[in-house]
Amino acid sequence: MKKKILVTGGLGQVGSELVPALEKKYGKNSVIILDKKENLVYKGLYVKGDVVNKKLIEDTVKKYKITEIYHLASLLSVTGEQNPELAWSVNIEGLRNILECARIYNLKVFWPSSIAVFGMTTPQDETPQKTILEPTTIYGVTKVSGELLCQYYFKKYKVDVRSVRYPGIISWKTLPGGGTTDYAIDIFWHALSTGNYTCFLNKNTALPMMYIDDAIKATIDIMGVDAKKITIRTSYNISSFSCTPELLATAIRKQNIPLKMKHATDIRQSIADSWPNSIDDRQAKKDWKWKPVFDIKKTVKEMLSGVTKMQSNKN
Ligand code: SER
Repeated sequence: MKKKILVTGGLGQVGSELVPALEKKYGKNSVIILDKKENLVYKGLYVKGDVVNKKLIEDTVKKYKITEIYHLASLLSVTGEQNPELAWSVNIEGLRNILECARIYNLKVFWPSSIAVFGMTTPQDETPQKTILEPTTIYGVTKVSGELLCQYYFKKYKVDVRSVRYPGIISWKTLPGGGTTDYAIDIFWHALSTGNYTCFLNKNTALPMMYIDDAIKATIDIMGVDAKKITIRTSYNISSFSCTPELLATAIRKQNIPLKMKHATDIRQSIADSWPNSIDDRQAKKDWKWKPVFDIKKTVKEMLSGVTKMQSNKN
């Protein structure tokens, strides 16, 4: 059967880079975006709508004969804290709608979890695959619940749903919205415009990060392997590099970009403090040969050239 892929949240930070990658792999007409944002950029098939609308999802699946869903639509940690009720409904009701459709129409699903599943009681260094999950944010609560729901649909209904725990994702084409790890993107825009950045995290706050290309690679790789290889049906730890604001600023300066950084912390500091410093991803490496390509230096180089391009397009 011909692959027809639905990407929810397809206009967002990850979606807008995953969609072209999927088109490249599976062909131009194989992808349909569902997003509640107004579409000003995507030239292919696009359905405007919300993942909490079960009928719309079901109608879209039937109309376009969807075979796979990449379910990216989600509220992140900071926006989640501003509206916990909305976070629950989008992140959990939305996921349940997708899983129900997958059960009925026999669809394969990708759904990202996050390092936000971890909390203060989790070991913070080289955080294991299986460990204590007591998140402090509603975002983390929805991700832990979502992981268990995915595993439940796999065990009870054989829904082939696969997941990775994304770390902070660093990208330049589309801005993220409302995450705690967003400083690692903001810093580049400020470094290349004013040369001054006030960071909302302390200089020594370590968090796991990943360049967007590696996040896309992980997403496509895990969806491509034989189902028998997937031994984790909650969500896989994946890791690329860990950094602190200070380490990132230093790496930027090493590329001859002068940058002065100050710090003014807010609620995001306590969220970041509850998340791991680094992640143990040996299970993903073993099961489906996960391997990142971008270290911090390569990421910084890509970001500096990408953000420079974006800024000169604006002027
Ligand atoms: N990037 C997300 C956030 O900061 C974590 O998954 O909320």
